[in-house]
Amino acid sequence: MENMIDESVQGNTLSLESSEDRSRKLYIESYGCQMNFSDSEIVASILAKEGFNTTQELEEADLVLINTCSIREKAELTVRKRLEKFNAVKKTRPHLKVGVLGCMAERLKSQLLEEEKIVDMVVGPDAYKDLPNLVQEIDEGRNAVNVLLSKDETYGDISPVRLNSNGVTAFVSITRGCDNMCTFCVVPFTRGRERSRDPHSILEEVNDLWQKGFKEVTLLGQNVDSYLWYGGGLKKDYDRASEMQRATAINFAKLLELVAMARPKMRIRFSTSNPQDLTLDVIETMARYNNICNYIHLPVQSGSNRILKAMNRLHTREEYFDLIDNIRRIIPECAISQDMIAGFPGETEEDHRDTLSLMDYVKYDFGFMFAYSERPGTLAARKLTDDVPEKVKKRRLTEIIDLQRKHGHFRTQQHLGKVEEVLIEGTSKKSDDQWMGRNSQNTVVVFPKENYQVGDFVMVKIEECTSATLLGTAIGY
Ligand code: SAH
Ligand code: F3S
Repeated sequence: MENMIDESVQGNTLSLESSEDRSRKLYIESYGCQMNFSDSEIVASILAKEGFNTTQELEEADLVLINTCSIREKAELTVRKRLEKFNAVKKTRPHLKVGVLGCMAERLKSQLLEEEKIVDMVVGPDAYKDLPNLVQEIDEGRNAVNVLLSKDETYGDISPVRLNSNGVTAFVSITRGCDNMCTFCVVPFTRGRERSRDPHSILEEVNDLWQKGFKEVTLLGQNVDSYLWYGGGLKKDYDRASEMQRATAINFAKLLELVAMARPKMRIRFSTSNPQDLTLDVIETMARYNNICNYIHLPVQSGSNRILKAMNRLHTREEYFDLIDNIRRIIPECAISQDMIAGFPGETEEDHRDTLSLMDYVKYDFGFMFAYSERPGTLAARKLTDDVPEKVKKRRLTEIIDLQRKHGHFRTQQHLGKVEEVLIEGTSKKSDDQWMGRNSQNTVVVFPKENYQVGDFVMVKIEECTSATLLGTAIGY
């Protein structure tokens, strides 16, 4: 989601159960954060009503859509390679149309269509409900573009298709856009201003998932702790809300409680948390409800106050430590993960050492670590020089990754000898006789299948570990 960018799923295609009365074939490929994968399910649902069945075979498609990511340059390069491939297929299937969705569509607007002429359709993340009209435009031989960002679109009324999932865990998006304006980040430009989804539609979706047999939901947003429902509209317009709207407003702690109470047997997770918005109220709510998992993804990006300031991350290193101390005091078993950027403009060796020492303090369970990639249009690109040499960025990144591996191992060792509840998600990638699931802390646990089934909550005795995985034996329900 990013959070998180799961490398193993990048480029996955989505397939819907086919229906006879749909005559055309849609091939949809997704890149980037969890929100993109979740949006592709919304897109597939909208286009199913327009007569499209999904296919996993590019060669038999009538419409190819690629849901794109702009977060780092590399993400965009991957998408460009795929567009080349799609255009090659077009040579043998002239009626095939290609559309680009998501963050690159929003960032480059009509450039891919008019200047580069490598797509037929460009659709930004807030314009998917316009797809029926846009598809009609391209059917009639015209190019189609809609990159308007919206004040209130949350797709709350569209029920996404889940047919390609494991049937056990699902993502439910609760906010769209981001108002934080971290200086390195392209998201506020590609996904627009922050808005929250109606809690009733969130609860409806969660209840529906439970009825369909799902056992875990992850509430999804660029900055979930900033969730605020006051009847609709942008977060930044809350100042102008009426007294009545304020009195009945629902914040993230309250939403979390509503979801946890509605489905006491369902596991609840959320992602991503921003340190400046994660309140004590949220941590206390997590502690109060057994079914809210003990895991917080809490990106920090840097351990240096100077760099945090230049990144416009609105907290200091010391405030971050206070937050970590509070989490550990209220939920001693809580797992914490990070996102980190190496080589932000102006980063010195001393700044880098601050990052390593911050990591030593927290000892994160997991991490997602990146070399700084300058993104056009961001404040950092306009005001700062990307002056840390590539070699230095790489070296610092490697040091961060090595340290994270060490801390990961330290954390997994703490689970040895314990008996933990694991939700089975599917067969282990490494062995057909083993299940793979996760404990409350989100650590992967692998154990012999015996007679247990996908979707079972099983008590597992943890016997061995690597730096990221726990191995054990089930001892019953
Ligand atoms: N709040 C979001 C963050 C999205 S971006 C969330 O839901 O996770 C995910 C991560 O990508 C960021 O936390 C940051 O570590 C990284 N990232 C963003 N912009 C970047 C850039 N320009 N260069 C390198 N890494 C970047
Ligand atoms: Fe990006 Fe910062 Fe928002 S990393 S998504 S601007 S919290």
